[in-house]
Amino acid sequence: MKNNYDTEHIRSLVRPDCVHRDVYIDPEIFNLEIQRIFARSWNYLCHESQLPDTGDYLTADIAGNPAIVIRHDDHTIKVLHNRCAHRGAKVLENTQGSARVLNCIYHGWRYGADGELLSIPCRDNYRNTDVENNQAHYRLPEIRSESYRGFIFANRSHHAPALSDYLGGARRALDNMIDRSPEGQIEAVRGSFRAVYLNNWKIYLENLHDGMHPLHVHQSSIAASRAQIDSIEKTPGKTPPLALQLMQANAQGYREMEELEVTCYEHGHSDMRGFRNPDNAADPAYRDYLDRHRASYGEEKSAAILNMNLHNVNFYPGASAHPRFLQMRVIRPLAVDRTVIEISVFRWKGVPEEINRK
Ligand code: FES
Repeated sequence: MKNNYDTEHIRSLVRPDCVHRDVYIDPEIFNLEIQRIFARSWNYLCHESQLPDTGDYLTADIAGNPAIVIRHDDHTIKVLHNRCAHRGAKVLENTQGSARVLNCIYHGWRYGADGELLSIPCRDNYRNTDVENNQAHYRLPEIRSESYRGFIFANRSHHAPALSDYLGGARRALDNMIDRSPEGQIEAVRGSFRAVYLNNWKIYLENLHDGMHPLHVHQSSIAASRAQIDSIEKTPGKTPPLALQLMQANAQGYREMEELEVTCYEHGHSDMRGFRNPDNAADPAYRDYLDRHRASYGEEKSAAILNMNLHNVNFYPGASAHPRFLQMRVIRPLAVDRTVIEISVFRWKGVPEEINRK
């Protein structure tokens, strides 16, 4: 494809006071973003608890390239290209599953969980070919991957900094999500919420730090939750459930929204602090949680962890965490005007189910 954009042209599209619409609608810019941003960045794939046993796998997309994330025999997690060395078919089609041997869906070439080619149907027909003479070359190549406290990321570039350096100050969101667990451990809840948005990936990412939209876009849920809360509060001693209070947090006024603090980090990451929190001090399950947390960390450290009020924390370009809600969102661009959003939820290990449900 002909490239109409040089660096100067791209730079001219973004000004301090406005952004040219081509940044959001031009397929050529989109292709450049995939090549130059997503293919050179650390892309969040999953949490290690999603692959507890040998052979557990899920399939993913890294900058437009299909990939397999799999738990190997030695219990490490490997990220492999999901393209068969024979004729390039996807080896695995399912979004997740478990397999000791990866069997290509097209002609049945079989690979190990480390990507090594194990067997080929009708092997005799390959006598004196490169497949026979150079078999080690015919494999599913491994993609560079690293874990930060159980969160698995992959990067197609070997020139990118180490994951921990890349995440930089934004790491504290992942630390905080884990440290909110009284036992310092979290695990993914099975399943996820996935939706295709008919917009550019940057619209979604930027919206996560847009404090001016909730009063308008979330108007219907604000009104519905207000009505429910009013009705519940008519009964003495009853407090509205957390979910309703969270919807009401979107009703905070412009002044409060303007006071939200957004911090930007190197490599494009950012977080937002100061969003209104629900009042759950009277909830017995929350008090139980608080006691457990203080017992684990001590009064002072526990308060420091729980008072860190991070709202949406964006790991540029394709992920966003909410430490308090134990959520991780993956933002996966499909086309200039189509984006998949996948939300996974976590639970604290070692606490009663009632606390996790809240
Ligand atoms: S493409 Fe995989 S076995 Fe032929």
